[in-house]
Amino acid sequence: MPISIAILVSGRGSNMKAILDAVRAGELDAKVAVVLSNNPDAEALELAGRYDVPAVAIASKGKNRQQHEQEVLNCLAKYEVDFVVLAGYMRVLTPSFLQAFRHSAGYFRVINIHPSLLPAFPGANAYEDAFNYGVKVSGSTVHLVDEQVDHGPILAQAAFTRLDSDTLESFKGRGLALEHSLYPKVLQQISQDGIELLLGTSSKPTAVSLGETR
Ligand code: GRF
Repeated sequence: MPISIAILVSGRGSNMKAILDAVRAGELDAKVAVVLSNNPDAEALELAGRYDVPAVAIASKGKNRQQHEQEVLNCLAKYEVDFVVLAGYMRVLTPSFLQAFRHSAGYFRVINIHPSLLPAFPGANAYEDAFNYGVKVSGSTVHLVDEQVDHGPILAQAAFTRLDSDTLESFKGRGLALEHSLYPKVLQQISQDGIELLLGTSSKPTAVSLGETR
């Protein structure tokens, strides 16, 4: 059975597009039940419409966090989603929101992609921070969300090498390409084998190779 996911976005939506393309190509056995944005002007919403996926805007501007999250929860309740997938969703989720997606095993069924090798460089400017720090290797992390920002059990990471010739733009471009390949693969792994394999809590062998250094 394909997993059912809701994708939460705030902007450009290139990771959302990578997921939708993977579904369309038959590489990801998932149903994208809804795309939801806190930003009504997000490019991602228009893009989602082109894939025939319900695209919903629930503006966060002018609302307090609790009120906005409740509206998001009310919307998500209409779709039976296995996982909430954050793809550039620029809002921190409160513990009470996360509770709505608590699995009996204790984790929250909320997944995020972050553009660094966590725990290095959390925060909203990870590419800039890593590049300006002078890292020789960086990467992408897909993790379960917990009560802290850019924190929680790591499901997969993929790394890339910084080239001497890299500018911030080329560094970001290679990182983003890696994100687009990693996120759908991780979701497919979850759909195929369950999340326990990536969490290391499965009794099955863990021959999972999702990332590569190049
Ligand atoms: C990505 O770099 C993602 O890792 C981070 O926010 C960015 C979103 O980009 N969380 P996009 O909207 O998917 O193009």
